[in-house]
Amino acid sequence: MGPWPNDPLGPQARSAADIYWIMFIAAIIVLVIVDGGLVYAGLKFRERPGHIAKQFHGHNFLELLWTVIPTFMVISFSVLSFQKLNVMNDNTGAQMTIAVQGQQWTWTFQYPKEDRFKAIDGSYLLGAEELHIPVNTKVLLKLSSKDVIHSFWVPNIGGKKDAVPGRPTELWIQADKPGTYRGQCYEFCGTGHADMLVTLVAHPQSEYDTWAKDAMTEYNRSLDPATKKGRETFLSLACVGCHTVKGTPAGGKVGPELTYVASKKSIAGGTLSPVNEENLSKWIKNPPAVKPGTLMPNLGLSDEQIHDIVQWLLTLKCPQNLPPGQKCP
Ligand code: CUA
Repeated sequence: MGPWPNDPLGPQARSAADIYWIMFIAAIIVLVIVDGGLVYAGLKFRERPGHIAKQFHGHNFLELLWTVIPTFMVISFSVLSFQKLNVMNDNTGAQMTIAVQGQQWTWTFQYPKEDRFKAIDGSYLLGAEELHIPVNTKVLLKLSSKDVIHSFWVPNIGGKKDAVPGRPTELWIQADKPGTYRGQCYEFCGTGHADMLVTLVAHPQSEYDTWAKDAMTEYNRSLDPATKKGRETFLSLACVGCHTVKGTPAGGKVGPELTYVASKKSIAGGTLSPVNEENLSKWIKNPPAVKPGTLMPNLGLSDEQIHDIVQWLLTLKCPQNLPPGQKCP
């Protein structure tokens, strides 16, 4: 399955694809009749020795035919298009509303003010690049832009709408089945336009709350004051002598780079997996106890220091759109 509008996996995309196919097939029939007639006439009535073309002017029946049929076709297509457009633009009855903001060159998603999206600081879940929705649910997107005109489009799910600065627009989407759907900004918006991607993830309804819970854990971690403190603690200790974390003063080359440590499969040379709170804490608390002979010493950190550092390390995830020249572990 590719990001292809003629592989519709939601009612929006299906409405557009239905019109597309009806018009496409009608156009093929017209092409065959018109060009077929042209070729036939060209062969049958061509100039040749002993053959003189009949001269005549006007033919009521034929003229009527090629006026009435195209008129009928254009009217039918118009009626059909308006019918489908009514469905596609009908933003009523949405079960969920998400505010979508475009900016050079990413999308952010403000989830609704529901308890399941409420963060520790009283704000509500704000996501980027990935939009998560439940399947078979009509979701209304309220589009806006921070800078220039962008356009939100996930071909398989359909509906394409510009995000215009200072002029709110709306688009509803719905996915038939669970899956991950790729989308692309559809309005040229500067040098990063081609990389302004969006990933739409449709979850089974029963699993959506589980996703929300996990997302809130991550989100709350990034808001937790311990995270900021953890970064400061890390940078004030001997850690920086051995480890590199890009974007910080830590540039040590002795130990492994930690820029995207939270996206690694394991730590401590493969001894501890997965990379989670429990394993990171265990490792930092006493490295030689986990892996005898390791170069990483026991720094004798307090439980609070370890907690804070781990909270920060867990935010060091590899982003979807990496800066050029970097790659995920
Ligand atoms: Cu945003 Cu193109």
